[in-house]
Amino acid sequence: MNDAPDIKKGLVGVLADVSSISKVMPETNSLTYRGYAVQDLCELASFDETAFLLWNGELPTKAELAAFQAEEKANRALTPALLRVIAEFPKDAHPMDAIRSAVSFMGMEDAESEDISDAAQRRKAMRLLAKIPTAVAAAHRASKGQAPIAPDPSLSFCENFFHMVFGKVPQPEVIRAFDVSMILYAEHTFNASTFTARTICSTMADMHGAITGAIAALKGPLHGGANEAVMHMLKEIPSPEAAAGWLEGKFDHKALVMGFGHRVYKTGDSRVPTMKKYAEIMAEVVGDKRWMNTSNVLAKIMLERKNIHPNLDFPAGPAYYLMGFDIPLFTPIFVCSRITGWAAHVLEQAADNRLIRPLSVYTGVEQRPVVPLPQRG
Ligand code: COA
Repeated sequence: MNDAPDIKKGLVGVLADVSSISKVMPETNSLTYRGYAVQDLCELASFDETAFLLWNGELPTKAELAAFQAEEKANRALTPALLRVIAEFPKDAHPMDAIRSAVSFMGMEDAESEDISDAAQRRKAMRLLAKIPTAVAAAHRASKGQAPIAPDPSLSFCENFFHMVFGKVPQPEVIRAFDVSMILYAEHTFNASTFTARTICSTMADMHGAITGAIAALKGPLHGGANEAVMHMLKEIPSPEAAAGWLEGKFDHKALVMGFGHRVYKTGDSRVPTMKKYAEIMAEVVGDKRWMNTSNVLAKIMLERKNIHPNLDFPAGPAYYLMGFDIPLFTPIFVCSRITGWAAHVLEQAADNRLIRPLSVYTGVEQRPVVPLPQRG
């Protein structure tokens, strides 16, 4: 009999808690938020409605949505102190480090920072939803030596983000594609960053601390950073015709191909068809099909040769590039969306909390005596 401890490396397959926020059904490649299929939300609702849904369990009525949007618009501005701090960030700082630091600073400024009551946490979640895009845009512009652009409360959440990054609002098709990407990135059960947020919250630490930790976890290329890695990869491939040969080189070196594979979905990521559709619309709008043509070659060969499907980051990377965003903004944009899912999980964890604290199997040296320094030579 094998009595070796059963270690779930990477917590693979571990059921860590219950959750009523979202459900991934890998057997049917589907994902629901509070019972609604994510692709239906993309076609029939907006990101604002999705945020409300994640935090409240139901889609908003017209009056509820109007109140939610008014509150979000009223909370977009950053303090002069935070704007000064952002202006002083090193110009070559990683944008995810910049937004992580900005959120940490927001926590120090927030009068309710230490209040972890449900009502206060909800107010802080709203402030984070409203302010994170402002900080992302300001940090991005600062890194290019540009002054920040103040949020415009007459614009929608998505329009305002483009306004703060570029100083102008693009055509409705672009806003729509961006809104869809925000819905798709909003929530995805117990992924690494969400579990990080829940772990931090389980110590009864505050919302800003939990979100700061979640941003740090999202930065990695095995998680959120993959959308940037995908675009770097596509730019490395000289043309769609060169994609097959390029991929052979990756296979020869047993290298990871970014934007493929998923811990939960093994036969296709439920979010990919919707994002791909909107990435293709973006390619039409911009009149540049190179990235999608290259992507299609990679996806076909990865499936034939490795039986590995693309994940959401694969179409999201070129979609954001076609929208005009610089590559280092891609993962911070993910933060602007995922704050909704993270906050929903912090609220859920706090409502029925138990400290998250797993065990490990010790493999170090057996217990031994300390030899005092003079005798160690
Ligand atoms: N490129 C090439 N091979 C891949 C691959 C990829 N993107 N993703 C998985 N594989 C291979 C693994 O090498 C492994 O092969 P092996 O059995 O011969 O060792 C097999 O598929 C199973 O993968 P595994 O690493 O066990 O899956 P995981 O659940 O631990 O990891 C990811 C999932 C997402 C971390 C992994 O697929 C990956 O690193 N993808 C690239 C990064 C990415 O796109 N991340 C975004 C996730 S939404």
